[in-house]
Amino acid sequence: MSQIFAHRGASGIYPENTMKAFKEAEKSGCDGIELDVQRTKDGALVIIHDETVNRTTDGRGIVAEMTQKQIRSLDASYNKKKWFSNPKIPLLDEVFEWLHTNELICNVELKNDKVRYEGMEEEVLQKIAEYGLSERIILSSFNPDSISLLRELDSAISIAPIYSKKGVNPLLLATSTCANAVHANYRVMTPALMDSCQRMNIPVRLYTLNHEPKISKWMLAGLSGIITDYPERVVKIRETILKGKME
Ligand code: G3P
Ligand code: CA
Repeated sequence: MSQIFAHRGASGIYPENTMKAFKEAEKSGCDGIELDVQRTKDGALVIIHDETVNRTTDGRGIVAEMTQKQIRSLDASYNKKKWFSNPKIPLLDEVFEWLHTNELICNVELKNDKVRYEGMEEEVLQKIAEYGLSERIILSSFNPDSISLLRELDSAISIAPIYSKKGVNPLLLATSTCANAVHANYRVMTPALMDSCQRMNIPVRLYTLNHEPKISKWMLAGLSGIITDYPERVVKIRETILKGKME
């Protein structure tokens, strides 16, 4: 049955890409979290989706032009109005440290398709090694060159290219980047494409699946992973399907 990943944490309810969203995801009983990594001017790997802080925080500016201190001074709850505990933009270190308190899988998306962040692949791999997390990490990116580079740098780490455009062949994308899996926008996936991946043992994970009946449809079709803003909801759907199969 499909694994469930909380997209930017339990971001349907809590401020995305914050420790609060990740910790609430853990409580839901999902299998893993997904998060986005950008890099500050002084080299800190920080968890934020956009290249700027404008949408999700009370500040303004480009992450790559800001220091770690500036980034850490912001309130990261602005896409969910103001949050009572004033959550900060986490460092990748903070998430990796916390992963030692649970058994979640962590899908680290390198946000290097708009800003290239030269050297980010090596830095992320170094951190994974430092924290001894290589068995529990899936690295992904919209940048296929970055995925290929990750494979050159590490022959064992789990990697997955992401795509959202119609006409892309997921099997070709996965094989050409030597990836273990492929992550696709659910809008561009078809049963035939998924079948072609499954035949070649390439797991498919779809984002961002938040609603029935699509969730059940893909789960029953043997989808490997669902990336969702509402992990609690999807865990309940999975339980219902599993119960039905046992009866
Ligand atoms: O990795 C799946 C998904 O997170 C990619 O899209 O824009 O939410 O980072 P986005
Ligand atoms: Ca992402």
